[in-house]
Amino acid sequence: MDSIWKMFRINILIFTVLFSLACSSVRVRATVSYDDKAIIINGKRRILISGSIHYPRSTPEMWPDLIQKAKDGGLDVIQTYVFWNGHEPSPGKAGLYVHLRIGPYVCAEWNFGGFPVWLKYVPGIEFRTDNQPFKVAMQRFVQKIVNMMKSANLYEPQGGPIIMSQMCKQETAPDPIIDTCNGFYCENFRPNKPYKPKMWTEVWTGWYTQFGGAVPHRPAEDLAFSVARFVQNNGSFFNYYMYHGGTNFGRNAAGLFVATSYDYDAPIDEYGLLNEPKWGHLRDLHKAIKQCAPALVSSYPTVTSPGKNQEIHVFKSKSGACAAFLSNYDPNYSTKLTFRNTQYDLPPWSISILPDCKTAVYNTARISSKSSPAKMVPISGGLSWQSYNEETPSADDRDTLAMKGFLKSQQWPLLTVMSAGHALHVFINGQLSGTVYGSLDKPKLTYSKNVNLRAGINKISLLSVAVGLPNVGVHYERWNTGVLGPVTLKGLNGGTRDLTKQRWSYKAGLKGESLSLDTVSGSSSVEWVEGSLLAQKQPLTWYKTTFNAPQGNDPLALDMISMGKGEIWINGQSIGRHWPGYIAKGNCGNCNYGGTFSEKKCQRDCGQPSQRWYHLPRSWLKPSGNLLVVFEEWGGDPTKISLVKRTA
Ligand SMILES: *[C@@H]1O[C@H](CO)[C@@H](O)[C@H](O)[C@H]1NC(C)=O
Ligand SMILES: *[C@@H]1O[C@H](CO)[C@@H](O)[C@H](O)[C@H]1NC(C)=O
Repeated sequence: MDSIWKMFRINILIFTVLFSLACSSVRVRATVSYDDKAIIINGKRRILISGSIHYPRSTPEMWPDLIQKAKDGGLDVIQTYVFWNGHEPSPGKAGLYVHLRIGPYVCAEWNFGGFPVWLKYVPGIEFRTDNQPFKVAMQRFVQKIVNMMKSANLYEPQGGPIIMSQMCKQETAPDPIIDTCNGFYCENFRPNKPYKPKMWTEVWTGWYTQFGGAVPHRPAEDLAFSVARFVQNNGSFFNYYMYHGGTNFGRNAAGLFVATSYDYDAPIDEYGLLNEPKWGHLRDLHKAIKQCAPALVSSYPTVTSPGKNQEIHVFKSKSGACAAFLSNYDPNYSTKLTFRNTQYDLPPWSISILPDCKTAVYNTARISSKSSPAKMVPISGGLSWQSYNEETPSADDRDTLAMKGFLKSQQWPLLTVMSAGHALHVFINGQLSGTVYGSLDKPKLTYSKNVNLRAGINKISLLSVAVGLPNVGVHYERWNTGVLGPVTLKGLNGGTRDLTKQRWSYKAGLKGESLSLDTVSGSSSVEWVEGSLLAQKQPLTWYKTTFNAPQGNDPLALDMISMGKGEIWINGQSIGRHWPGYIAKGNCGNCNYGGTFSEKKCQRDCGQPSQRWYHLPRSWLKPSGNLLVVFEEWGGDPTKISLVKRTA
């Protein structure tokens, strides 16, 4: 991961420059302030439309296009977090230029909430509370970042693009901090003081995929409805979380089964293509809202209720601007609503926008942009694989765990292992005896199986696997992941034996990782086999192949349907964990956009792998001789892995 973060450091300047182009009106040196109506830039109240794009979830080569698509979609602002653990993997080694949500805590389904793991080992530390060591660490990081941005003149009063920093959802936020709202809906939110503007910092455009879960989908009609509802109730700033979700490359996905894809059903898809009709429907919404802006920023709405589930919000400024929002809150039935002697037809669960109080230019449930589902198209030409078997963890007594048994003859006692890890492989005398893994609602797991022990000394080896570190929760610094015990053997000469206090030895990581098998030099240090010797359906196996970059510019992915679980590297860079063996459970029935949305509604691809395709960024490829390495934990058939391109 080191090289990717170096790349970010170099390219963040470019990102900032492009960002300032996206906010054409903030390039002049001016002050930023606010009142109860809106953020005020350059003395002018602004309706600001923003979108979250997290820079490490795409590649620097993708940024110009993503930012252009955000601008074309009608955005004024781009919001990103700063990801501390990417920039300071060991204490004191920083070097970055970024803006806006400076954390230090980021949540974001990001490994350890963005904190570097070393922070957990600062003596006396407790995360995210009134704790001195924590405050000292936070201050050091925040000051460092703010100073770097100041010295690069990135703040708006310096002529830079940053208009806001570190907004927060906290009700008790002291002045002049503005407390804000995050959620699927925020129309009823009120800031903690009457002189603060009403801001929605996370409009959830969808939801994140988890291994074992179905793919979330939020209908564009409901998303547009929620935004229009917020704006008609005095809202003047909203930020789509996510506008582009992207990919959790490497091991950046947070704990609890967060998938490698962070597509989020965002308006721009994981691969950088437009997610239609959502992108276009929101672009049209933004256009309508901007037409209403003169009335919105200079008046409060007058609200009337002409019928059941009907509401009319009228903004009228002293200078004569008038804008109206006509609403139908019925989730199932359309309605006819009369406003100023004209009748308007409103579909269920929808709002019509009249920027001149006469013409309905937009309705949140009438989509005029075309739906264009993207397709994964296989690229011809198979990959030719070689394999290498990972050593079983019990192969070396010096650094692996061992347990001495006292058996007189062969027996099959019941082995029970309690683990706080997310997956566990159990080896008895070097042979894989079984595998268990957790689920979304039950991350802790128990292995319980009769195992084959022989007379004399037996070795039990436990390979514990975490799918990310926690990123949220009270005192998540205290959470442990891994085998915490107890470990017991039942039925051994009649009784139950507690092995927890036995002498265990411990080792982190795989042999193949320490040999850097994902790199060209590392992979040449071991002997690989191929052809009829190629390992098939065998757990703990490394696979490698080389290929040339396909022609064209379409985004690329790997179809991993034939594989189980593991990790993938291209030219030494990890593109993330794969786990197509985990089949999605969820609620994939009929999807009616009407009615209150939750992430469990309108899901897709139940009964399919939670994630079948894995983004292979084009910019990580060379024209020829790309080294693709797959570590397969469960067992799979690499000959059926295929390279695909994504076309809209
Ligand atoms: C808009 O803001 C004004 C002033 O704070 C308030 O009186 C009014 O109730 C708000 N209207 C809505 C619909 O939230
Ligand atoms: C709308 O329809 C759904 C399902 O068709 C039903 O469960 C719900 O009660 C209806 N709601 C209203 C307000 O009529």
